[in-house]
Amino acid sequence: MTTILVTGGTGTLGRILTERLRADGHEVRVLSRRAQPYAVDLREGGSGLDAAVEGVDTIVHCATSPRGGDEEAAAHLIAAARLAGVGHLVYISIVGIDRVPFGYYKTKLAVERLIEESGLGWTVLRTTQFHDLPVRVFDILAKPPVMLLPAGVNDQPIEVAEVAGRLAELAAGAPAGGSRTWAAPR
Ligand SMILES: NC(=O)c1ccc[n+]([C@@H]2O[C@H](COP(=O)([O-])OP(=O)(O)OC[C@H]3O[C@@H](n4cnc5c(N)ncnc54)[C@H](OP(=O)(O)O)[C@@H]3O)[C@@H](O)[C@H]2O)c1
Repeated sequence: MTTILVTGGTGTLGRILTERLRADGHEVRVLSRRAQPYAVDLREGGSGLDAAVEGVDTIVHCATSPRGGDEEAAAHLIAAARLAGVGHLVYISIVGIDRVPFGYYKTKLAVERLIEESGLGWTVLRTTQFHDLPVRVFDILAKPPVMLLPAGVNDQPIEVAEVAGRLAELAAGAPAGGSRTWAAPR
């Protein structure tokens, strides 16, 4: 049996991934700022983080704070993983972050680099947006009486359960490096 730590295991992706890994027979720990007994703010690190990674074989890093701090969070996670001798760090990233100049994407690219240079075994999977993200964007755009839509924007959003399934396979396997990209067919 493999012990897997899912950071952000209470989020949109992390929740489904956690269920899938448990169904596959893995021992799964969930870490987030509010998930007991591994309630840790990754931007701060500390002894709670060390306890969460102790004895873990693989970490799947899904935690994210779009308002900032993901680089610091990744640095703390990597340091704790190295100390604990974790064999494999899997990271979920986004297709096109090296081409689209959003601040959040620049941060994700920086986190990918930290992971590549961490000295740990690693795998990075880049996917497109999950279906709920365009829905949230359209909800916001639909608030004014006239709904403005950006012209010429294409997307191939993907079902989050499919991403969770692929991540579960990668987490159960050997470190594969990256970046593996995966989009929905349309
Ligand atoms: N959503 C998409 O369309 C999409 C597409 C491709 C890739 N991704 C990537 O997939 C990952 C997960 O996305 P998601 O949409 O599932 O995110 P989400 O629903 O916003 O979940 C974020 C998770 O991170 C935890 N978290 C946030 N800040 C934290 C901190 N400082 N320390 C510890 N835990 C923290 C949250 O729990 P607490 O609030 O309890 O801390 C929550 O469990 C991200 O890396 C994202 O970039 C997302």
